[in-house]
Amino acid sequence: MHGLHINRLIESVHQELLPGFRIESVDPHDPVEVRHVPKPWQLLGRGNYAAVLYHPDYPDLVVKIYAPGRPGFFEEVEVYRRLGSHPAFSECLYARDGFLILKRLHGVTLYDCMHRGLRIPKQVIRDIDSALEYARKRGLHPHDVHGRNVMMYKGRGLVVDVSDFLDEETCSKWNDLKRAYYWLYRPLLSPLRLRVPYFVLDVVRRSYRFLRRLVSRYLHPRKN
Ligand SMILES: Nc1ncnc2c1ncn2[C@@H]1O[C@H](COP(=O)(O)OP(=O)(O)O)[C@@H](O)[C@H]1O
Ligand SMILES: [Mg+2]
Repeated sequence: MHGLHINRLIESVHQELLPGFRIESVDPHDPVEVRHVPKPWQLLGRGNYAAVLYHPDYPDLVVKIYAPGRPGFFEEVEVYRRLGSHPAFSECLYARDGFLILKRLHGVTLYDCMHRGLRIPKQVIRDIDSALEYARKRGLHPHDVHGRNVMMYKGRGLVVDVSDFLDEETCSKWNDLKRAYYWLYRPLLSPLRLRVPYFVLDVVRRSYRFLRRLVSRYLHPRKN
């Protein structure tokens, strides 16, 4: 990647994007609200802490901007430093002033695959598993790996959000997702080619969080 190319993009972030861009995180458990995206920037995705955009002149790069007051920026930079280069992860090319420039991963999040009724082959799950294993070998702790943070591209799996990989607390989201994949998705949903509407996915997301909290309260009564 050319330094000059990136420099022009950074300039454009400061001059075109940031001045007119409005982002707000209302609830840390729900995706950030993006109120205005200046032309010609395109919104690619929203996480609970940040928004991800690209500029049509730089289609292989994305800019990830954290909502004011949400933590994780410095941690994410450190995670990418430790990850180095791996086909299932993005790479961080620049980070300053609350935004990161990352290599764009093309693909559809597994969450959106459910919505669009796209078939998710086992290879996708295996790729993500081995990517997470690689991260562990690099001294990281895969965390918050859920349907919006993993993607499918040409039948292969990608991990799109690594921002919480310094968090050592165990996180069962990926194991739970895998369980749902093998027990629910493979035998029932996939053969029916069902498209799951967003409101149903949202209900699943909310009930999952509720049930998880209930279970953890039951298992660790003093912690909660
Ligand atoms: N490198 C990338 N390439 C393409 N899309 C991305 C990339 N990083 C993030 N996205 C998209 O943006 C969404 C939000 O980014 P994410 O890193 O998950 O934010 P957060 O840390 O707030 O959860 C993701 O679900 C994904 O759709
Ligand atoms: Mg995310």
